[in-house]
Amino acid sequence: MLNQVLNWWLVIFTWLHLIGCSFSFEFNDVNLHPEHWEYYFNYFPELLKQCKQLPHCPFSSVTNTDKCWGYESHCTQENAYSYPHCPGDHKGWVKSKPEQFETFYKQADFGYVKEQRDEMTVLCEPSAAEDSSLECSNHLRFCRGRNIYMDLTSLSMRREPIRYKMDVLKAGQIGGKCKFNESRLKEEADHVSPLQSWAPELLQFTEMSTRPMGSAKCDVTVDKPTYIMKIDATVNMYHHFCDFFNLYASQHVNASHPSTFSTDSHILIWESYTYASAFSDTFKVFTRHPIWDLKTFTGLTVCFKNVVFPLLPRMIFGLYYNTPLIWGCERSGLMESFSKHVLHRLQVRRFRRKNSKVRITLLSRDTQYRNIINEQELLAELNREPHVKVKRVVYNRQMNFTKQLEKTHNTDLLIGMHGAGLSHLMFLPDWAVVFELFNCDDEHCYKDLARLRGIKYMTWEKKDKLEPQDEGHHPNGGAHAKFTNYKFNVSEFLRLVRLGVGYIQGHRKFQKYIATLHDEL
Ligand SMILES: *[C@@H]1O[C@H](CO)[C@@H](O)[C@H](O)[C@H]1NC(C)=O
Ligand SMILES: *[C@@H]1O[C@H](CO)[C@@H](O)[C@H](O)[C@H]1NC(C)=O
Ligand SMILES: *[C@@H]1O[C@H](CO)[C@@H](O)[C@H](O)[C@H]1NC(C)=O
Ligand SMILES: *[C@@H]1O[C@H](CO)[C@@H](O)[C@H](O)[C@H]1NC(C)=O
Repeated sequence: MLNQVLNWWLVIFTWLHLIGCSFSFEFNDVNLHPEHWEYYFNYFPELLKQCKQLPHCPFSSVTNTDKCWGYESHCTQENAYSYPHCPGDHKGWVKSKPEQFETFYKQADFGYVKEQRDEMTVLCEPSAAEDSSLECSNHLRFCRGRNIYMDLTSLSMRREPIRYKMDVLKAGQIGGKCKFNESRLKEEADHVSPLQSWAPELLQFTEMSTRPMGSAKCDVTVDKPTYIMKIDATVNMYHHFCDFFNLYASQHVNASHPSTFSTDSHILIWESYTYASAFSDTFKVFTRHPIWDLKTFTGLTVCFKNVVFPLLPRMIFGLYYNTPLIWGCERSGLMESFSKHVLHRLQVRRFRRKNSKVRITLLSRDTQYRNIINEQELLAELNREPHVKVKRVVYNRQMNFTKQLEKTHNTDLLIGMHGAGLSHLMFLPDWAVVFELFNCDDEHCYKDLARLRGIKYMTWEKKDKLEPQDEGHHPNGGAHAKFTNYKFNVSEFLRLVRLGVGYIQGHRKFQKYIATLHDEL
């Protein structure tokens, strides 16, 4: 009921926005991938109508179709952005084929977003539009608030740096003026861990007797929408992209206002460390403003007009890290659209090719372990293969991240040892193959990521045809497959590469792409 009231309020708000100031809303802020506009306008049809009445509507060619992302109440399966591909058997996991589709869709696709949206309940209820409000999905995995007060004055007393901490806020240091159902919040606060839910922070929520916004209570008022992020690990692409993927999914969960994909919003990282990462370019996809951290507001009280507590990277049954993906299914539309969105906003282009050769990129490591001992030999042999173009790359700080993405996006077959660099597979074309040369006994990590992205995964099959340098030296002692280097049998390597090349050449989308090149020539 209250959800409905809030939704209506938003609809009216949107209308006022449109009627009141015509096009004060900036389409430039939204800047979507060309294929995503139809979905966007289907969600906000009035925007398209209004735009088309203007003399120079940039979207005059966009038609209003029935296409939808998949979480909208009116969205049918045929019109949805994606539906998983489930060629594998469903037996043993679920009772029927439709149940198998449904399970994957809910675990890893827009079905996950829909579930979050359906779960949203109001925990602190406003009595008037200017009041505060707080709503969350189950287990406080995703929350959003309006006119929220936060007291960070006591942080100036803390000596130790803050990261993965559950006691940043103390009782009463967060709140708002709204009818707070504390028992409901406590019921939901059952995943109390730094990166699993917002329970550690929201358990400190308090109902205030007066409206914080505009009062002397706020040292700082943040008008622009703000995402508060608890991030995983900035040094590792696999882990940091779990942060970005969940942020993207959260924008869909929050979608209800045309500005949902706008970069005119702030990001506050819930740590006292200054944010730095080799992957920091990716934040430009989400905000055009500098990244804030807790130091930005230490010693101050802050009032947020609109705040989102996004999905977290280590949620139980969360997105991508540790997701228990059902067997037999692949191709998450949520992951595919994330890939497109990131590439589009970072302006990563596909180069024009001069021929139909399959582009092979060998990802070399400049680390102590998991190097390919006979890399030169493998490269020399690859170069002798017909119909391929081979490149060796090292993705390190000498090459900025956007440039790395460009190289990946122009690759058809990516070959590399087990390691976070393989997370680049998210940005390969749809017809691509990722060949994890050796998975070092960590079988599921990149295999599942490739499955989410919907590209073919291969790995070394015959253990007797690879030679470790030694038994491996785990930093904590003992032998471990990840901490040594490997030599690969050349003919077995070529056999696998040829399988990958054949798959790519036979892929409908690759053939279509190559055909467009011939037309142009
Ligand atoms: C608070 O939430 C609980 C369920 O979680 C519900 O039973 C109760 O009626 C709610 N209280 C109010 C005042 O709405
Ligand atoms: C989240 O959604 C709310 C409600 O539509 C909106 O006001 C707010 O700006 C959104 N927040 C972000 C960070 O986009
Ligand atoms: C990344 O590097 C490329 C060339 O190496 C350069 O053109 C581009 O401006 C760089 N991008 C950033 C964000 O520094
Ligand atoms: C590689 O494997 C092939 C059989 O697949 C074998 O004939 C060859 O001797 C192996 N090469 C080396 C260097 O062990």
